[in-house]
Amino acid sequence: MWWRDAVIYQVYIRSFADGNGDGLGDLAGLRDRLGYIAGLGVDAIWINPWYPSPMADGGYDVSDYRDVDPRFGTLAEAEALVTEAHALGLRVLLDIVPNHTSSAHPWFVEAVASGRGSPARERYLFRPGRGSMPPNDWSSVFGGPAWTQVPDGEWYLHLFDPAQPDLNWDHPGVRAYFAETLEFWFDRGVDGFRIDVAHSLIKEPGLPDLGARAAAQPVFAHAGAHPHWDREEVHEVYREWRRVADAYDPPRMFVAEAWVDEPERLSRYLRPDELHTAFNFLYLTAPWQAGDLRRTIVRTLAEHLAVGASPTWVLSNHDVARHLSRYARRDQEIPTRQLADLLGRPADLELGARRVRAALLLTLALPGSVYLYQGEELGLPEVEDLPEDALVDPTWRRSGFTDRGRDGCRVPLPWSGDAPPFGFGPGPTTWLPQPASWAPLTAEAQAGDPTSMLEYYREALRARRAIPALRTAPFRFRDEFGPDVIAIERGPGFLCVVNLSGSPVLLPSRTTVRLSSADVVGDLLPPDAAAWVTR
Ligand code: GLC
Repeated sequence: MWWRDAVIYQVYIRSFADGNGDGLGDLAGLRDRLGYIAGLGVDAIWINPWYPSPMADGGYDVSDYRDVDPRFGTLAEAEALVTEAHALGLRVLLDIVPNHTSSAHPWFVEAVASGRGSPARERYLFRPGRGSMPPNDWSSVFGGPAWTQVPDGEWYLHLFDPAQPDLNWDHPGVRAYFAETLEFWFDRGVDGFRIDVAHSLIKEPGLPDLGARAAAQPVFAHAGAHPHWDREEVHEVYREWRRVADAYDPPRMFVAEAWVDEPERLSRYLRPDELHTAFNFLYLTAPWQAGDLRRTIVRTLAEHLAVGASPTWVLSNHDVARHLSRYARRDQEIPTRQLADLLGRPADLELGARRVRAALLLTLALPGSVYLYQGEELGLPEVEDLPEDALVDPTWRRSGFTDRGRDGCRVPLPWSGDAPPFGFGPGPTTWLPQPASWAPLTAEAQAGDPTSMLEYYREALRARRAIPALRTAPFRFRDEFGPDVIAIERGPGFLCVVNLSGSPVLLPSRTTVRLSSADVVGDLLPPDAAAWVTR
């Protein structure tokens, strides 16, 4: 079961590499650079949605689940990519979006056109309003109400953008369509799926108001029974999907995007007959503090063990501010996720880079699989000052232009050269502007420089492969270094020491430093650094 300890590289396709010069990443760009990804030493890629889409939410508004958007390429190119990736030893995960379709999906177009009470409307959640008000008080994750009215007066539910109508998962046709869509891609050699907002599909019958609970809860998570997040009935869907995946040889796998508060709730998705893995967002949001990280690791391992599942470790993705910039906040005492949490708090990017290096060794020393987000291997920071007229994330508009949203972590990668578009593609521009200050961060500028972030990532990934204990040996915390140091033993001969205290820490004698995130002089590991030591 390759996914139990794999390192998976997230390809945000719009921003990875552009083959045709239109400034938007595409399949041709990705195929060109599969060798770069394989050369990092990862085991698989997860590709964000590449399906036909009006791109109201960067492709998470799908209008055809069984094709490729012409801006990204063709279905034939997608098939070729899967074959080429496999030849390089990379498995391929796609991204499935079951909670909602695009409003341009033929089902929704038909539902609007065929009117109240029509069977086509039953695939979605259409309801009459309350007077001139929406059917209930739910709000959209991107801001504003979760309901929009169609010309005949009915309202439809959208937990995200109005261009993303929520599907009705009580409809058998919806269930069958998605099971067949999984098969469509599995038949083309795809190794698995990341499941978008996996905890949202099922809504409480009657769609009751949130009432006081609305104010008490952060959007996109829940605490206790909730009418649209993490409902019990959703597990039935994943039991069916598991049967679909298990019918293949080798069996296909899933990773759930489920923003639930508690690892206890997350592990319910990972019972033996459900999903294989889920993103560990508790780890992603943990502050850079020994106590918090240790507690997070303990809870994660305990909850996964309880259901026999393999944990995952992730620090960045296309929805959150890059962790280099999060860790650059010296006062990182509160969990942070979005750019909005960071703005106005002074940043020390060098500190962020030191911590990112240390975090990599910690992450790679934990038992389970690891997700890396494209560009973190280049040490890219969040772009916090994109011009307002460049922002395209629906969050910006839906928040009434108060929340700049997620574009800052989606800026196209810098590959080469000393000015934008930094070799992103043959064209002159990129769909989001790159900062001129990225010249030293291009893959070209870093390649071959042993002090660079890129070579450091390559070395760490190589070392993880070369040290079998990291995948197989039992895990244990060691506490002799004090409360502000995380020390992890993987078998008798391997130790990962992460110094989150303010002063240097003495590494154990008679050990060899295999890899360290900063120079170790006289056996002293500096603050905000980590080392892998072997006996
Ligand atoms: C997930 C995606 C995010 C998207 C949302 C709605 O959270 O990762 O990018 O906006 O779902 O599909």
